[in-house]
Amino acid sequence: MTALLEMEAVHAGYGQTSVLHGVSLSVPEGGVVSLLGANGAGKTTTLRAITGGVRWTGDIRFGGRSLRRMSTEDIVRAGIAHVPEGRGILTELTVDENLKLGSHLRRDTKEVRKDYDRVFDYFPVLKERRALSASTLSGGEQQMLALARAFLMKPKLMLLDEPSLGLAPIIVRSIFEIIRSINQSSRVTVLLVEQNARIALDLSTRAYVLEVGRVAVEGDSEELQGNESVRRSYLGY
Ligand SMILES: Nc1ncnc2c1ncn2[C@@H]1O[C@H](COP(=O)(O)OP(=O)(O)OP(=O)(O)O)[C@@H](O)[C@H]1O
Ligand SMILES: [Mg+2]
Repeated sequence: MTALLEMEAVHAGYGQTSVLHGVSLSVPEGGVVSLLGANGAGKTTTLRAITGGVRWTGDIRFGGRSLRRMSTEDIVRAGIAHVPEGRGILTELTVDENLKLGSHLRRDTKEVRKDYDRVFDYFPVLKERRALSASTLSGGEQQMLALARAFLMKPKLMLLDEPSLGLAPIIVRSIFEIIRSINQSSRVTVLLVEQNARIALDLSTRAYVLEVGRVAVEGDSEELQGNESVRRSYLGY
């Protein structure tokens, strides 16, 4: 499979503090790749590097084209949707207004309408709550809204930062099933950051484990799941 996203020896950090020390990874077109690791390992920073939110060196290529000199806005237009840590939805707006933030750049009006139908199939609760303030949604529903908004951008690649965070296991399972459908039916490639290694590896085909800003382990998800020493040392289960 060809790589949709490639990071090569990426260093990144904040001011004088370096956080990523040469991260290389590859996300195949159409695939789901997990990026795992403990608190502070650099997972969020990796996603921020991809979207231009932190300064970096090395190379990051999307569809073969370097993102080096691209603004965040151009990166979004190129087809990368970022669902950040903490979801990033606007609680002072309604559910509908949040969804429109996802689709507002698109000119393919007919397709947009179809994508709204798809979103409401994936997340019926959002249809029921369209007119309500996003602040009335539960944590799980807010995560659904964040995913729905990203989906409406019609991205080629979704960057998901800990979609399971703070949610009950049953909600996490249903959200991960929808991520699977988005990947399989709508052909959206996914780079999934998670601390919940077990559920992430169930969904992904390939995984990287970050340890203090470096890739400590990489491989097929199934292989990592089956490797007891990797599981104990890096995955915490
Ligand atoms: N805005 C910032 N300014 C300075 N340092 C930061 C900033 N954001 C993160 N860091 C530092 O960078 C390191 C990596 O943080 P990062 O958020 O990428 O980790 P993470 O793997 O996403 O962790 P978590 O699982 O807790 O979300 C940490 O030491 C953190 O303190
Ligand atoms: Mg993080």
